Amino acid sequence: MAKTYKIAVIGGDGTGPEVVAEGLKVLNAASAKYGFKLDYTNFDFGGERYLKTGELLPESIFDDLRKFDAIYLGAIGHPEVKPGILEKGILLRMRFELEQYINLRPVKLFPGVDCPLKDKKPGDIDFVVVRENTEGLYTGAGGVLKKGTPDEIATQVSINTRKGVERCVRYAFDYTKKRNKDKKLTLCGKTNVLTYAFDLWERTFYEVAREYPEIKTAYAHVDAITMWFVKNPEWFDVIVTDNLFGDIITDLGAMIQGGLGIAAGGNINPGGVSMFEPMGGSAPKYKGQNVINPLAAICAAGMMLEFLGEKSAADAIEKSVRELTSTKIKCLAAGKMGYSTVEIGDMAADLAGR
Ligand code: IPM
Ligand code: MN
Repeated sequence: MAKTYKIAVIGGDGTGPEVVAEGLKVLNAASAKYGFKLDYTNFDFGGERYLKTGELLPESIFDDLRKFDAIYLGAIGHPEVKPGILEKGILLRMRFELEQYINLRPVKLFPGVDCPLKDKKPGDIDFVVVRENTEGLYTGAGGVLKKGTPDEIATQVSINTRKGVERCVRYAFDYTKKRNKDKKLTLCGKTNVLTYAFDLWERTFYEVAREYPEIKTAYAHVDAITMWFVKNPEWFDVIVTDNLFGDIITDLGAMIQGGLGIAAGGNINPGGVSMFEPMGGSAPKYKGQNVINPLAAICAAGMMLEFLGEKSAADAIEKSVRELTSTKIKCLAAGKMGYSTVEIGDMAADLAGR
C-alpha cells in the first residue's frame, strides 16, 4: 500500500491561503507521480479567527498537531491586529511548544532570477542558514519597570542554554556533513561584545567540531557576515547562528536570492513534528488578487517532502521551480511575474508531476 503522510494545513492570513493552495496542487502532482499519499487536515488559525472569537490557539491543539507527520503553513499576520499578538500567540508558540528548535533556511539563487548583486550567478549563492529557533531573545524573558514614566526600565534577555545551543550546533554539523557541498560550517555570532552568550556558542561549536574532523569550521561576527553576504556569498556553505541573528541575516539572504517571493524555511524538530512555511509573510495588500508569488510556498512544500523522506519528489519540485525561473517567470515580485498566482501553481504542478 502507498505510504500516507498526515499533513496539518494552516493557510493563515493575507495571501497565505492563496500560496498554500498552489503548494498543495504541486504536492498532489508530485505525490501521484512518486507513489505516496498526503492526507490533509485544515486548521483556520490566524488573524480572522482571532478577531472573530478572541482565541489564538485552542489549548488542545498541540496534542492534535503532534499526531501529524508535518505542518504546512501559509502566513500569520493581520493588519487589524496589533503587532506581536499573532506572531507570539500563534507562530512562535507553535515553534516553542512543538520544540521546533531549528529554523532551516536555504539561500539559493535559481537560474533566470534577477540578483541584486552585480556579477553573482547561481552557484555563487547557495548556502543554508541553521537558525536556533526556541531560545535567544525570542523567549520573552525580561520585563518592564516604571512603565510610562521617565524612569522606565525595559530588559529583554537572551537565553542561551548549553542544551539548546548544543543540539542546534550538532544539527548544523550533521546537516553540513549530509549536504556534502564544501563541508564548511560557519558560526555567526558576536563574540567581541556578547561575551557570555557567544562564549557559550563558541565553546560548544569547537567542542562539537572535534567529532566532525571532515567539516571545516569558520567564524564570522554577525555585522561582518552581512558584508560578506553582499561581497562574497560564495564563501558560505552552512551557517549556524542564534535566533535573532538568524532572523536578520535570512531576510538579507532572501534578498540576494531574489526576494521573499522564493524564500522558504522549515521549523524543524528532528524527533517530532516540523512546520514548513514561505518566509514572505501575509502581504495583506496583495490578498485575493491572484498576484502573489507562490514559489516560496512551493519550495516550502519541497522542503517538507525532503524532510518526510520523499527525496525524489522533493527534487522534482525544486527542478520544476528552476525550470519556471529560467524559462517562464519574468520577475519574482508580486504582480510582475508575467503570470498569475494560479498560473504559476498550475505550471509547477504540471512540471512536478511529469
Ligand atoms: C520569521 C518572522 C518571525 C520571526 C516573526 C513573524 C515573528 O520574521 O519567521 O523570520 O521573527 O521569527
Ligand atoms: Mn524574519
